Amino acid sequence: MRTRISGGTVLGPHGATVADVLVEGERIAAVATPEQAADWNPDETIDATGKYVMPGGIDAHTHMEMPFGGTFSADTFATGTTAAAWGGTTTIIDFAVQAKGTSLLSTLDKWHEKADGNCAIDYGFHMIVSDVNDTSLKEMETCIAAGVSSFKMFMAYPGVFYSTDGEILRAMRKATETGSTIMMHAENGIAIDELAAQAIAMGGTEPLQHSLTRPPELESEATGRAIALAKVTGAPLYIVHLSAAQALAEVAEARDQGQNVFAETCPQYLYLSIEDMAKGDFEGAKYVASPPLREKHHQADLWRGLRTNDLSVVSTDHCPFCFKDQKELGRGDFRAIPNGMPGVEHRMDLLHQGVVAGEISLARWVETCSTTPARMFGLFPRKGIIAPGSDADIVVYDPAAKQTLSAQTHHMNVDYSAYEGFALTGRVETVLSRGRVVVSKDAFHGSTTHGTFLSRDLCQYLN
Ligand code: URP
Ligand code: ZN
Ligand code: ZN
Ligand code: ZN
Repeated sequence: MRTRISGGTVLGPHGATVADVLVEGERIAAVATPEQAADWNPDETIDATGKYVMPGGIDAHTHMEMPFGGTFSADTFATGTTAAAWGGTTTIIDFAVQAKGTSLLSTLDKWHEKADGNCAIDYGFHMIVSDVNDTSLKEMETCIAAGVSSFKMFMAYPGVFYSTDGEILRAMRKATETGSTIMMHAENGIAIDELAAQAIAMGGTEPLQHSLTRPPELESEATGRAIALAKVTGAPLYIVHLSAAQALAEVAEARDQGQNVFAETCPQYLYLSIEDMAKGDFEGAKYVASPPLREKHHQADLWRGLRTNDLSVVSTDHCPFCFKDQKELGRGDFRAIPNGMPGVEHRMDLLHQGVVAGEISLARWVETCSTTPARMFGLFPRKGIIAPGSDADIVVYDPAAKQTLSAQTHHMNVDYSAYEGFALTGRVETVLSRGRVVVSKDAFHGSTTHGTFLSRDLCQYLN
């Protein structure tokens, strides 16, 4: 099967150029001028005139059917990857979650059982390490050989995923030894739990307290501490879901010194704020995630970080919990609200809005949402670029189309949208996953057995 995508503006590291793309089977066979493409004789042509032709989105931070907060995140691998495809994301990297007392390898098996044969797009895994001991440190090597080359650790959630500084240091030494990456949830969980207990003791039970008891200082302190531990051990460090200007300053300083420190932010921190958490009737619970939504002024710093590459990646941290039957668990005590928000479907569109508003360039949109996550997590050039030999994960994007986000029309398995009523310019028109058209003009043609597991190399983005 040969498909020609004709007349579009191809976006990539070389800039934005009008070119035709030839897809043969699962791969990109050629990128050429329309004149050169005249003798291709394709079986099928997709007209992309006036549209962008870009590498499919890579969401390097999702949580499908994740056990958390006494329940499971509401999207399965099947529903979550289908929603991702609708929004122009053709790869996710999800997290296998080590429960304390269990091994990394049995955890990896368990996550393969959940995901294999149940994904509409390609997927990889990071490993959450919550139990640092001689066995799990040794197992990090086996994980890397099995294509899982990044390990998330938590300075938050004492008693659940939390690791001490000593445990983090040990895992970082192993990361240095193996060339793998430590991903860090950088919030001071010990101090946060004290603040939260004090708030409850004073009668503060509502969702807004979630943000008030996780101040930016406790994110920047943990970020700085993680950077110091990484410097001492020499480990590459990737700060996940960065939300606060002060934490960004820590990352920027380390990067200025040449340290291998990287960070991602998420659309919710660019577009939503603590004001959403103050909504009445328990509505604020819809926005409870960690780190929390911040005051609006942080947003300008985060956009600047995206421009300067102190923020290199945009991921969603997609971790949906239904408002009616899951967020409800924390009515009367904000500490029991399951932490997480939906978003996997709308990252590409929301970041395109940053292009429309003049916050980031077209090139930075593609870099932060596709090319850099591919490099950061060992998938390049198979993913993240429109080039001969790469997988034909391609989005035809209409930059002029209008849409309004709503839970009524989204495809994520959750009963609310964090962006309800947002009017956006730009919309996904066609999506190919490994050469197969999975979305075309408001119709889904994919299948939840199409996605394959991606065995990843080490980070390709180091200084
Ligand atoms: O609140 C969040 N972010 N939930 C997902 C788990 C995590 O910490 O990334
Ligand atoms: Zn986290
Ligand atoms: Zn997360
Ligand atoms: Zn539900």
